[in-house]
Amino acid sequence: MEQKKKDSNRDAYPILVVGIGPGSKDYVLPAALRAIASADILVGGRRALADYAREEQEQIVIGADIEAVLHGIDEARQRARVVVLVSGDPGYFSLLDALKRRFLDEPIEVIPGISSLQMAFSRLAIPWHEAKFLSFHGRTPSDAVLAYEEGAVLGLLTDAKQNSKTIPEKLLSLGWKREAKLYILSRLSYEDESIIETTLGEAVELPAVSHGILVVCA
Ligand SMILES: C[S@@+](CC[C@H](N)C(=O)[O-])C[C@H]1O[C@@H](n2cnc3c(N)ncnc32)[C@H](O)[C@@H]1O
Repeated sequence: MEQKKKDSNRDAYPILVVGIGPGSKDYVLPAALRAIASADILVGGRRALADYAREEQEQIVIGADIEAVLHGIDEARQRARVVVLVSGDPGYFSLLDALKRRFLDEPIEVIPGISSLQMAFSRLAIPWHEAKFLSFHGRTPSDAVLAYEEGAVLGLLTDAKQNSKTIPEKLLSLGWKREAKLYILSRLSYEDESIIETTLGEAVELPAVSHGILVVCA
């Protein structure tokens, strides 16, 4: 999507949020690549900027201080085309949420990306229309949401603290069976991608894998 010219009724360029998929450029939409190429200012994590930013593009690094990043975007959009790079799909736990809250009725456009969850289910060749997707990335779903349900399929984002060891422990404490099938997927789309097939009961004995996807089949 070519970003529209500055809207004369407003004082700023629309903010374009682009999903860059799970990591490898093989899984990025051509429309996303075109939008990234046409940006004056790119906003993203260090890894994304290293992968995509050209020398002449101004950069804003997304670090721990999100308020500073939002402020930087607000200033930047007054004078140039800003493209924000987010991993996976923007609609699923990304900076889009904070941008929508900060810029309320201001124009924000989105180009979708392949979510790490979509990628995980593709790798396993398991349909996801009945799966329950939840995030343990910097948050904890409630016990009620995690309660055992016969036939349930879960797709879970993890982080360093809530990982392939601690989450199975939690599910077992909530009545899930030790023999429930568990897939631990990490570094999806990269050369060192890893997919481990195990069970909830075994996973608590294995080394923890963080920042990946867990797929649990009751
Ligand atoms: C802030 S969330 C972003 C989710 C993203 N918007 C999406 O749609 O995939 C970051 C989490 O996504 C998951 N993730 C992102 N890239 C991944 C990859 N290449 N392989 C496995 N999991 C990944 C991990 O659970 C990571 O902690």
